Amino acid sequence: MILQGKDLLLGVTGGIAAYKAVELLRLLKKTGANIHVIMTDSAQEFVGKTTFEVLSENPVLSDLFFDTHSSVKHIDLATGADAAVIAPATANTIAKLAHGIADDALSTTLLAVTSPVMICPSMNTDMYQNIRVQRNLDILEQDGCHILDPDSGALACKTVGTGRLPEPWFILDRICSMLTKKDLDGKNILISAGPTVEAIDPVRFVSNHSSGKMGYAIARACEKRGAKVMLVSGPVNIDPPVNVDCIHVETCDEMADQMLANLDSADIIIKVAAVADYKPLDPKKSKIKKKDSKKDISISMTENPDILKRIGKKKTNKQFLVGFAAETDDLEKNALIKMKKKNLDMIAANIVGAKDSGFKADTNKVKLFIKDGSSVDIPLMEKEKVADILIDTIIEQLSAKENRCNL
Ligand code: PMT
Repeated sequence: MILQGKDLLLGVTGGIAAYKAVELLRLLKKTGANIHVIMTDSAQEFVGKTTFEVLSENPVLSDLFFDTHSSVKHIDLATGADAAVIAPATANTIAKLAHGIADDALSTTLLAVTSPVMICPSMNTDMYQNIRVQRNLDILEQDGCHILDPDSGALACKTVGTGRLPEPWFILDRICSMLTKKDLDGKNILISAGPTVEAIDPVRFVSNHSSGKMGYAIARACEKRGAKVMLVSGPVNIDPPVNVDCIHVETCDEMADQMLANLDSADIIIKVAAVADYKPLDPKKSKIKKKDSKKDISISMTENPDILKRIGKKKTNKQFLVGFAAETDDLEKNALIKMKKKNLDMIAANIVGAKDSGFKADTNKVKLFIKDGSSVDIPLMEKEKVADILIDTIIEQLSAKENRCNL
């Protein structure tokens, strides 16, 4: 969402990882951004210019004197750019940028860029660790450039070590983060997500359809907005968000332990997890066998701890507590009862039971009820967008609270 309509410069320099820049370009285009690619001569030894021209739907700049009808093309590109990314960035280009050398289209354009710049070094491990390369990266970092550390793994030179260009989806994620306003800077946020599973026997369990998508979207959005995020997650099939501390749990008891252990340092607590209200009273140690003589069986269940209610009792005046309410009927009435009973500052009432909202869906329809009696209706939209509106509302509430305290 953040990249839609933005003008980005993608600088490609001469390393074997130049092929990954093609995939990065494809991903960037999907976000709705307008991309201008600038290639060094050596980059073109690895990947042809035509590939980038076709995918970006823009001419590729590689020669200041022959490629363009405008004599100041590099200035036009630099002035119009919302951000610039160099991926992969070779030691040579890094050195030029660090020392203000402008002897090709990319280094000349970069000198005129005033918007955020991300540099993604990629090279042989010894080259990367060389004191001169590290010194140049330090200079660029001090100058305000964002340096994306390379990954470790197998390199083109048949060695294993640090120097691989990170995967394109990761670079895209970090570009989005770079351009996101850091309005949660300094905040610690504790989030729970996904389902809990309660064993009946070693092979069977009681659980629900939560995929973790909503909770993970909130965790990702908080991290991008500058928060330090701790995510306590039930079993899901999603990768942990980048830069988020993720603790994996299975049962409600385990989730309760982790949430309470991390509660004191949290400024904001958001409880998205779909927790099993009941668990089997007597989980069996061996698999329950089918008996031909029995048509029906029953499993006795016992109540699980209500984690949110416990947090509501313990929370301090400084902490902001958000619960979710998954409802099929009487959305507002049930959500307001839960908000009061669990001592919440805000509750996200979530229509569930439809294909496009609630469990498993990529979209969600939510109404936020706030303790002061106000509410925010969030129509059906992507869970990523729901997450951003939920965070905007929390930030508004926190600053209103601060203003009241300062009066
Ligand atoms: O994971 P997804 O597939 O993306 O789906 C998202 C979601 C539908 C799970 C999510 O948006 C949602 O609505 N989460 C709350 C689910 C739920 O358990 O609702 P509830 O009304 O049963 O519980 C109310 C609140 O109490 C929740 O914040 C829940 O985390 C908490 N709770 C409930 C029971 C319990 N024993 N302990 C708790 O802390």
